[in-house]
Amino acid sequence: MRFTQLNEIELPAAFDAHVHLRDGEMSQLVTPTIRQGGVNQVYVMPNLVPPVTTVQQCLAYRDQLKAIEPNVDYLMSLYLHESITSEAIREAKKAGIMGVKSYPAGVTTNSSSGVIDYETFYPVFAEMEKQNMVLNLHGEVPSTPSHTHATKDATAITILNAEPAFLPTLKALHEKFPALRIILEHCSTAAALEAVRACGPAVAGTITAHHLSLIIDDWAGDPFCFCKPVAKTPEDRDALLNAVVTSKGRFFLGTDSAPHDQGKKRGEDKVAAGVFTQPNAVAYVLDALEKGVERGVVEEGDVTLEGLEGFFGGWGRAFYQVGDGRGEKVVLRKGAGRVVDVLEKDGLGVRVVPFRRGEETWSVEWK
Ligand code: NCD
Ligand code: ZN
Repeated sequence: MRFTQLNEIELPAAFDAHVHLRDGEMSQLVTPTIRQGGVNQVYVMPNLVPPVTTVQQCLAYRDQLKAIEPNVDYLMSLYLHESITSEAIREAKKAGIMGVKSYPAGVTTNSSSGVIDYETFYPVFAEMEKQNMVLNLHGEVPSTPSHTHATKDATAITILNAEPAFLPTLKALHEKFPALRIILEHCSTAAALEAVRACGPAVAGTITAHHLSLIIDDWAGDPFCFCKPVAKTPEDRDALLNAVVTSKGRFFLGTDSAPHDQGKKRGEDKVAAGVFTQPNAVAYVLDALEKGVERGVVEEGDVTLEGLEGFFGGWGRAFYQVGDGRGEKVVLRKGAGRVVDVLEKDGLGVRVVPFRRGEETWSVEWK
């Protein structure tokens, strides 16, 4: 296959291992766009307000999502929180909940009830390891408040080094719980990729669609490209592109599609972190790979059908130990799709501006 010569590609429907579907009106708006993006199975993030910290809440949330779009499989997660005990983990496992997401306190949208000290949760991680559950890490260290930092003492944490500074924690967790399946979510740096590769096969990383094309300059002036972790350097982006095509199972798609009403992006308040990619999830990745080949940073021969099938679904499903119950296929056609300018629906009071609004991309047809 010569990837850049292809105008049409058939793939198994994708598994998106990191989605924010929200609740209320926002979930009504965005959940129906999952299949539009070429995806039929998702791993759902629990950072609602309040966060999803109980099994009952989590199952009720899954039912709400199913009622909106029944033709998607929703794999569910709990929000790591001091109220989560070993017993809650056992209960969650019995209820079919797949994993637990850890947000460091205050680093991103809806993370105010997040983790301050990982060691506090060691008994919970030990139980998760025993129960064969997945630990999903938002791998960033909270920033040093600018008014408290003394340059002579230590390196301040900023949004640029927040992920590299987290990597020793990943290593420590993996060493302490070698059989615990851990995912370093939304890897955004070459250093993060290296850290995942340096661990055993119990550790994997997800890669978003937008981190495959964005760099710092893109989000600095554009709220619709701003997310956590922020996009980094061109070298980091190119390392991510290469990780997609040479991952052999260690990296797979997790879009971190994170919708915010446009008023939260361009209002008078602080800019909300999150890039919305759900309706064109697979297409954005194909576009980014094509650009990578054109720029000469991705070897065209490295882009294989097997690799794409793995990144978009096979490897994520294998890591989560789930099948693709639906066995559906999608056909993507180059240049035959267009990203909407704004996602909106009659009767709903929220509007979301998607990544690369108005641009041409691949279309998706379900077979
Ligand atoms: C996410 C959100 O909006 O919920 N935002 C983001 O920038 N990625 C939270 C998260 O996953 O960090
Ligand atoms: Zn996320």
